[in-house]
Amino acid sequence: MSRIAYVNGRYLPLPAAQVRVEDRGFQFGDGVYEVVYLHRGRLIDEDKHLNRLDRSLGELRIPWPLSSKALAGIIRELVARNRLHANGLVYIQVTRGAARRDHVFPTAATRPTLVVTARAVAAFPRDVDAWATAIITGPDQRWDRCDIKTVNLLPNVLAKQAAREAGAFETAMVDRDGMVTECASSNLWIVDQAGQLRTRPLGQAILPGCTRAALLELLAEERVTLSETAFSLEELRHAREVFLTSATNFVRPVIRVDGTPVEDGKVGAITRRLFAAFARHVQGALSNVT
Ligand code: PDD
Repeated sequence: MSRIAYVNGRYLPLPAAQVRVEDRGFQFGDGVYEVVYLHRGRLIDEDKHLNRLDRSLGELRIPWPLSSKALAGIIRELVARNRLHANGLVYIQVTRGAARRDHVFPTAATRPTLVVTARAVAAFPRDVDAWATAIITGPDQRWDRCDIKTVNLLPNVLAKQAAREAGAFETAMVDRDGMVTECASSNLWIVDQAGQLRTRPLGQAILPGCTRAALLELLAEERVTLSETAFSLEELRHAREVFLTSATNFVRPVIRVDGTPVEDGKVGAITRRLFAAFARHVQGALSNVT
């Protein structure tokens, strides 16, 4: 069975699902996106993702292509048509639409482009130790509005490729002041030398991760206190524990940074606890696919 995609009102087999060559997403990267994880057919943190989509669109003055309720319906229909009863990813992209190439915004009559795709992925990881990974570090080469989830991902693509070529999974990006922002497609957290859990505060330097937000809500129950303060490359290198968060990687332990083990190279106690808390959050999410 071919995968089915949604494009501007139509459900089509993936090879036939196309956008126009003058789509502004293609020509200018003039668009935004979301990635939502599906666990046993249930969308995880859907409201957070749709709220962030709303914010990204608003910041760039791209109109909603349809109501967020209608989008939620399309997502469910697409999940059903692709028979995603187990685990999957839903990708949503909205661009400013197709118009004769001109940097300035097109006329108000130009309809935004909406694309939604979905695909199956591996089940939620069971074994936190096997889920542990390695990262490298590199400069943050992005613009000043990393809080908007745009499809302009070239620095992220280059950072991720650098990680791959170094045999690592992610690149922790470092700003001009020597402070860590986040990874190419995930937020980064440390337990510092004093035992304090830290992650960079929200602002224009990082994406406000939905997994980050969900984990923040779980911290109180876990009786873990968080300090939302930026940490330096040096602090990352000397951290007791390191982990990353994203919709596709959940809470993922980092046990090597630039080839050097984090502490003893084993998953730390706080990371272990937060992985388990997030696993409960995913498994316990109320059914919202009807
Ligand atoms: N990436 N930071 C960046 C730069 C990201 O691209 C992402 C998400 C995150 C984590 O956000 P969330 O927890 O909402 O997934 C942080 C998605 C998964 C992607 O590009 O595939």
